[in-house]
Amino acid sequence: ACSLDAHIKKAGKEYFGVATDPNTLNIPEIASIVDQEFGSVTPENSMKWDSTEPSQNNFNFAKSDILVSFAQSHNKTIRGHTLIWHSQLPNWVTTITSPTVLRAVLTTHITTLVTRYKGLIHHWDVVNEVFNEDGSLRDSVFLRVLGEEYIPLSFRIAHAADPDARLYINDYNLDFSGPKLEGMVALVNRLVQQGVPVHGIGTQAHLVVGNGAIPYFRGTLERLVSTGLEVAVTELDVRMAVPVTEERLRRQREDYALVVKACREVQRCVGVTVWGVSDKHSWVPNTFPGQGAALLWDEEYKKKLAYEGVESAL
Ligand code: XIL
Repeated sequence: ACSLDAHIKKAGKEYFGVATDPNTLNIPEIASIVDQEFGSVTPENSMKWDSTEPSQNNFNFAKSDILVSFAQSHNKTIRGHTLIWHSQLPNWVTTITSPTVLRAVLTTHITTLVTRYKGLIHHWDVVNEVFNEDGSLRDSVFLRVLGEEYIPLSFRIAHAADPDARLYINDYNLDFSGPKLEGMVALVNRLVQQGVPVHGIGTQAHLVVGNGAIPYFRGTLERLVSTGLEVAVTELDVRMAVPVTEERLRRQREDYALVVKACREVQRCVGVTVWGVSDKHSWVPNTFPGQGAALLWDEEYKKKLAYEGVESAL
C-alpha cells in the first residue's frame, strides 16, 4: 500500500503531515507510522514560547532539536508552530506593559527561533489564533501593548530571518461561513495590500463528527484562497462523543474524506496535517471532556475507518 504522503503528492499537493514531538516519537509504533505515512511534521508543543524561551533570553531547544533532527534524518519537511500566540505564553511576557520592551522581546524571540532553523522549516505559523469568534482581534498582551501592528511586525521580522520560509497566519473555526472567516479574509487582504510578507492561511480544522459545516469545507477553503494566498489544513482532527460506536466511526470516515477531498479539489490548498497519530495521545480528551477518538489510528495503533476515508479521497 502507498503512504498517505505519496497519495497526496500524486494528487499534486506538497505533503501529508502530522503533529508529533519527542514524547510521542519515543514510542516505536508512532515513530514508524510517522516515518512510513507522512511527509511533514509539526512540533505539537516543542516550538511554543513556554518551551523555547521560558524565561527572558534563556532559550531551550532540547525538544525542538530532537524533532528537527528526526525530520532531517527521515526526509520530512517541517511546519514551524508557532511564533506568536496568546496561549502557552510564559508570565514574564504577559506582564510586559511597555511597547518598546515588548517590541524588543518579540523581535528577539522570533529572530532567534527562525534563525536557528533557517532553511529547515518550510512553513512557519507566525501568528496563531489572533481572532475572536466575531472577527475582531483577540485580546492578548500583544494586542493590548502594540495594537494590530504586532501582526505585520511579526511577519516582517520572521521574513528578515529566513526569506525562504513561507509565512502563515493560522486559526480555528474557519470551517464555516461567518464573521471569523470574514475577519481573516479582511485582515489578510489588508496585510497583502501593505506589502507584508504573508504567504499562507492555515485552517486548523478541529472538527466534530457529523457537524453540518463539514460538507461546505471546500467553500471555506475557496473563500480563504480568494485572498490570493495559499491555504493549508494545519491541525485536522474529527472528534466524537465517547464511548465510540461503529456508527460514529463510519460517519467519521465520511467526514475525513470530505475534508481531504476539499483540499484536493482546491488548487491552492497545498497540504493537510493531522493533529497527532493515535487516539491514545490526542489533545482532545483533555480539552473536550467526554469526547475523543479524533485521529486516524486507534489507541492500539491500528488504522481506523477514518484512515480509509482519507485514502479514498486522495
Ligand atoms: C495543543 C497540543 O496538542 C496540546 O498537547 C497542548 O497541551 C495544548 O496545545 N490549536 C493549536 C495547537 O494551535 O497548538 C494546540 O495544540 C491545539 C489547538
